[in-house]
Amino acid sequence: MGKIIIGKKLLEKINILFDFSRFSKIAVLTDENIPKSFIDKIEKSFNKKLIKIIISAGEKEKNIETVKKIWEKMFDEGLDRRSLLINLGGGVVCDMGGFAAGTFMRGIDFLNIPTTLLSQVDAGIGGKTGIDFIDIKNGIGIFKEPIGTVIDVETLKTLPKREFISAFGEIIKHGVISGREYFDFVTSKKPKEFDQNELIKIIKGSVNIKSNIVKKDPKEEGLRKVLNFSHTIGHAIESLSWRTGKPLLHGEAVAVGMIVESHLAFLCHPILTSEVRISLAGQIKKAVVNAGLPTKISNIKSEDILKKILSDKKNFSGKINWSLPKRIGRVNVNVKVPNELVVKAIKSII
Ligand SMILES: NC(=O)c1ccc[n+]([C@@H]2O[C@H](COP(=O)([O-])OP(=O)(O)OC[C@H]3O[C@@H](n4cnc5c(N)ncnc54)[C@H](O)[C@@H]3O)[C@@H](O)[C@H]2O)c1
Ligand SMILES: [Zn+2]
Repeated sequence: MGKIIIGKKLLEKINILFDFSRFSKIAVLTDENIPKSFIDKIEKSFNKKLIKIIISAGEKEKNIETVKKIWEKMFDEGLDRRSLLINLGGGVVCDMGGFAAGTFMRGIDFLNIPTTLLSQVDAGIGGKTGIDFIDIKNGIGIFKEPIGTVIDVETLKTLPKREFISAFGEIIKHGVISGREYFDFVTSKKPKEFDQNELIKIIKGSVNIKSNIVKKDPKEEGLRKVLNFSHTIGHAIESLSWRTGKPLLHGEAVAVGMIVESHLAFLCHPILTSEVRISLAGQIKKAVVNAGLPTKISNIKSEDILKKILSDKKNFSGKINWSLPKRIGRVNVNVKVPNELVVKAIKSII
């Protein structure tokens, strides 16, 4: 796994954080909403102009058409096997840039500079890259590690509030996976009440949790599946919401996914451990509400959610492999559940 650097005012000294001398050319991929001052700082630190590839912003751009434009620009600018792509932006830029770099001329190096809280705690690390295909979330992609990830918390100052809060979907999920200490800390205040030093603590916490898991299971053969908690439902809801005229952000869909999947965990073993599981689903819901994230959906039918999850790429031979929490600090993987219970659990958000 590449080096991960977390701190303040890092864009200004990016040139000294890695050895860039081995690269023939450096290009920066970013989107139209990323403040221009970020690139200016990076160029100033290198003391030269860099090749810029600027794409339109948003999940709707995370597709093969945009990747084609990125590849085209990379060829036009004469990038070669020894060139570097810097992904400067949120999870969309990091996911798509990693994929474009990992496939360009059979793969060139890339560096992630995630600029949303969600990409700093999650998407910017772990080596999963890719794009959506038609309406299948992350339907096409490759595992490819960046040479490193630079997380400059200063970039969050310009992030819209809704995007900031969305990250707490993943942050709360990391709390459920890792244990009481982190869960209690990240749910102890409303997202906007954490100061910059506490935010750094949260970013370091999430990065540690995710990277410790990814190091042990980079290709998601077993353990890494714990990170999929909430995502079976979350991905289905996210992509179905694209057609409702009110698309959910990734972290918002993850929050709703946590509500359904923790309820599902309770329904699976109601007699044996009802107290623990009721309170677990209750605690997760409380955390989601406290963060200001959604707990319900509108204009999406439960049949459509079920249909969608049955076509999820992580399901082998039509069976859904659920990652379900047992308690705070414990998520079980490869859990099989009858569809009737899934339908029941989905009712909790409709
Ligand atoms: N690869 C992984 O392991 C992984 C993990 C989690 C999520 N993801 C993916 O990440 C994506 C979501 O990422 P996201 O939430 O960062 O969304 P995003 O990349 O769409 O960014 C959200 C918006 O904020 C803008 N923005 C970014 N940084 C800004 C800043 N500092 N100031 C002002 N505006 C800024 C962007 O231009 C965009 O409009 C999804 O596609 C999801 O599937 C991937
Ligand atoms: Zn996610």
